[in-house]
Amino acid sequence: LELNSKHIELECPNCGRGYEVSLEASYCDCGSPLLVKYDTDELILQIQLEQFPSNQNSLWRYSRILPVVNSKFIFSLGEGWTPLLKSRRLGEDLGMKNLYIKDESRNPTLSFKDRGLCVAISKHLELGASSFALPSAGNAAISMSAYSAAAGVTANVFMPVTTPSSFIEACGLYGAEVVKVKGTISECGAEMKKSGGSWTDLSTTKEPYRVEGKKTLGYEICEQLNWQIPDVIICPTGGGTAIIGIWKAFNEMEALGLIETERPRLFASQVEGCAPVVKAVNENLEDIQPWDKPEETSAYGLRVPSPFAGKLILNAISSTNGGAVPVSENEIMPMRKIAARLDGLDICPEAAVAIAGLQKLVESDELDSSDTVIMLNTASGIRYPLNDTKR
Ligand SMILES: Cc1ncc(COP(=O)(O)O)c(C=O)c1O
Ligand SMILES: [Zn+2]
Repeated sequence: LELNSKHIELECPNCGRGYEVSLEASYCDCGSPLLVKYDTDELILQIQLEQFPSNQNSLWRYSRILPVVNSKFIFSLGEGWTPLLKSRRLGEDLGMKNLYIKDESRNPTLSFKDRGLCVAISKHLELGASSFALPSAGNAAISMSAYSAAAGVTANVFMPVTTPSSFIEACGLYGAEVVKVKGTISECGAEMKKSGGSWTDLSTTKEPYRVEGKKTLGYEICEQLNWQIPDVIICPTGGGTAIIGIWKAFNEMEALGLIETERPRLFASQVEGCAPVVKAVNENLEDIQPWDKPEETSAYGLRVPSPFAGKLILNAISSTNGGAVPVSENEIMPMRKIAARLDGLDICPEAAVAIAGLQKLVESDELDSSDTVIMLNTASGIRYPLNDTKR
């Protein structure tokens, strides 16, 4: 594995302040997430000459542009390099000739969270961390539990009591400490803070390295399309790591000379009962406002009333001429069934939200039927009950 041997820094995308990489550097004093900055001028030649190793069938094929510098700290379970499937019958049904599904259900713990948590845990271990904690609606908790187990360190997860038992039990199986909290992921975060453990906090976008892992989605999509830029990528969005990571990947790929200035339009899809991103986009707000009464939804990962990375999410959308689409709760299960019956995929409810969002974009002529459209199946449907109708 050719790791990044060059100096990296952390930079605040809001106020521009720089930070040295350290265990303590989490987010900026101004309240914004921090992003990893690479010396792309130094990397450009290496990457041009070598491209990416064809025998690395994981996200570590992009190790030169990832933050870990010592392979001893990488506890890989084979995350990433998931198939980009051309949808045939579902695409046709929705009137899309070039619909691709990036199937993240093939990751080690069955969700895209493995990308972010593998990279973040590896990097924090390298910086000296010895235990981890996060609030999670399910998939991130399982992922953190698995990678912590592989590294032999403790994982503490704070999950809403309403999380399906399959998620809670999986964390227990990996040996994590599970605390169940009344409320949404926001209350879980508050409870975690209150309990005051001495762990490293891996909350969404409150440390810089989960986004680094998630950005490999953008690199993979482009590489799998032979470095062609898709027209549209639609992400089921909660805390925003995927949409921010993909946006960052495209900026880096341009700086590395892999692509030119063209960008895919980035769309976020959310459930109507908790849609702070949609509201902020529609009302042209400068930042995302906390959602007042987040309704329950079977798309657990999207029930994020107050994403920490508000401005970054909005910037990813506006700078790519993208958008945000709301979907109603009762569209979710039917869409899961349609995807299963037309494409043979057991997608998660969050991904069903993305497809239902796409359908709306096609119907309103926001998208063209010949556009190359990528939708993320962010997790397997297998852990989600099939009779889970919230309304
Ligand atoms: C299956 C699934 N999809 C999508 C999301 C949203 O993730 P993000 O907005 O951080 O990319 C989550 C988060 O919990 C999830 O579990
Ligand atoms: Zn700042």
